Amino acid sequence: MHRVLHLSDTHVSRTGPDEDGVDGLAALKQLLYDVRHVPSVDLVVVSGDIADDGSREGCQAVCSVVGSFAAERGIPQIYSTGNHDRREGFEAALGWGHLGPDGTPIGRRAEVDDVIAAVSEVNGLRVITLDSLVPGETHGVLGRDQLDWLTTELATPAPAGSIVVLHHPPIFVDAIPYLESVVLQEPAALGDVLAGTDVHAVLCGHLHHQLSGTIGQKPVWVTPGVITRIDLTAPSALVRGVLGASATVVDLGGPFSPTFHTLHSRDPHAGSEVYVYNPITGEDTTESA
Ligand SMILES: [Fe+2]
Repeated sequence: MHRVLHLSDTHVSRTGPDEDGVDGLAALKQLLYDVRHVPSVDLVVVSGDIADDGSREGCQAVCSVVGSFAAERGIPQIYSTGNHDRREGFEAALGWGHLGPDGTPIGRRAEVDDVIAAVSEVNGLRVITLDSLVPGETHGVLGRDQLDWLTTELATPAPAGSIVVLHHPPIFVDAIPYLESVVLQEPAALGDVLAGTDVHAVLCGHLHHQLSGTIGQKPVWVTPGVITRIDLTAPSALVRGVLGASATVVDLGGPFSPTFHTLHSRDPHAGSEVYVYNPITGEDTTESA
């Protein structure tokens, strides 16, 4: 059995709050305090948008909080890039994103130009992070070089199988049309690489709401955001972000695995509106919603 605590989208900036004025670091601290009773966590994964402004300082602030949680438990902390991250800031704070309990690098970085992909092994479980960041864009892309590297890594099974972590989901909800343009582009190419391998699950963020699906016959899980959650009860033309940090516990190797269950921060302001906008027209209706 392996248990992963899956976080995403902390969006901490150099000065603290994100562009909407929300304090992601406070949300992260509250969440990690509230999940302190979850037993037997083997590793913490943060699947991108670590820093809202791409800064080294934002990444460092997140790493100091997640790192304390990891150090107390003697477990690794593993990060992937998101669309808000910048590779320079990410690398300066987190290296290739695979850190041991004491914050020192573990595993190895992919020898692929211009991306921060990496692999490490945690008690026999292989953890692969991919870099789907396209600078200045919201959507994600995995280049041929990175997919070829992934193919090579997965050619040999790991003792306890593998998980793949990337920011942009290779799935979306058909009923929400704008999502297709912001998720991983050409997802079938990733599916082709994953099919028939020892990958248990693909862990993603980006959408700020929970979602499951499959790619290449592999389960895909999208964990809700730490800083905000997208409230899908909004009219379908609108995106409504609300407070309420969440995390996912991913259990691997059990009789029904992979299982994913979400935990919600005990935030008295959970559900409070942060923003409402129309992603097609760009109209911001936060004040009037
Ligand atoms: Fe995000």
